[in-house]
Amino acid sequence: MKKILTGLQPSGELTLGSLIGGISQTVKLQNEYESYIFVPDMHAITVRQDPKLLRERIRKNVALYLAAGIDPSKNIIYIQSENLYHANLSWVLECTTYMGEASRMTQFKEKSSKKDNVTVGLFTYPILMASDILLYDADYVPVGGDQKQHVELARDIAERFNKTYGDTFKIPEPLIRDVGFRIMDLQNPSSKMSKSSENTKGIIFLLDDEKTIRKKIMSAVTDSEGKVYYDTKNKPGISNLLSIYAALNDISVEKAEEQFKDYNYGNLKKEVSDTVVRVLLDIQDKYNKLINSSEIDEILDRGREVTNEIAKKKVEEVFDKIGFGR
Ligand code: TYM
Repeated sequence: MKKILTGLQPSGELTLGSLIGGISQTVKLQNEYESYIFVPDMHAITVRQDPKLLRERIRKNVALYLAAGIDPSKNIIYIQSENLYHANLSWVLECTTYMGEASRMTQFKEKSSKKDNVTVGLFTYPILMASDILLYDADYVPVGGDQKQHVELARDIAERFNKTYGDTFKIPEPLIRDVGFRIMDLQNPSSKMSKSSENTKGIIFLLDDEKTIRKKIMSAVTDSEGKVYYDTKNKPGISNLLSIYAALNDISVEKAEEQFKDYNYGNLKKEVSDTVVRVLLDIQDKYNKLINSSEIDEILDRGREVTNEIAKKKVEEVFDKIGFGR
């Protein structure tokens, strides 16, 4: 059975973008693939985190995965830092990656240009991500469009390692959905909806209440043309609303366009709000039942055990091929 693997950083509260780009594909594919979904908490500390908040968010992420439809009997669910092999492999892969390749990562370029105290970890982060993927021989990595370049880097690293030391890693492929691969900020539809943005008015968090969700969507930035159709270049706001609607209802953008062609913007926003509220309130209802349950700990204990066993074998194979130890 082929494997899929994905993770969502607990560096902020999960958003509608995280759900559509990150979780929903795994929910859809979990019956056909051996599925791994984890919390990359080690990735989160590339920027400063409050320890108490970080720990809370790790648990919240897991509860949200489950509430969004990740089935624990079909997925291996785990926390990155509970498996020390991720960082071990990462070091080896850092020594397999060239400065030039790592320097080309657009996410690093964007993030580092906006900050003063840029950590080395922010630079090497895609290599830790390669380690997350290659440890488990994932065939496919379901992600949003912003992570495509990182998965491609993982492929390049795996190919180089295999060429030097013999066949060791599976070459992974990014799996990116056509609809909703990049959900935009409602107030600034030329930027990605991001959990780490400072202005939260354009971001829908999975745990926002109904009133807040409706308010954020009803005040989404659009344009002055007054016609509903999909054109990301000239109508980024309307196109984003159509993408959100299409992704959550699992229909094509063309179908959504057809459905709303005679609507005014206010009515379109109302329909999009209804869909988002329906999906998120259902998730929140399940989340509230799960967040304090011992089920989460049982699932994570199992995940820790299974993944440590798999990762140990892989790292031992790598260390042996490299010539480490006695
Ligand atoms: P992260 O935590 O930034 O985002 C989690 C997932 O959600 C997707 N996503 C979006 N998709 C569409 N529109 C958006 N506005 C949007 N915002 C977020 C992301 O593409 C991602 O799929 N480096 C990763 C986490 C990670 C990982 C991994 C993922 C670490 N190791 C191994 C896969 C495999 C990250 O920062 O995603």
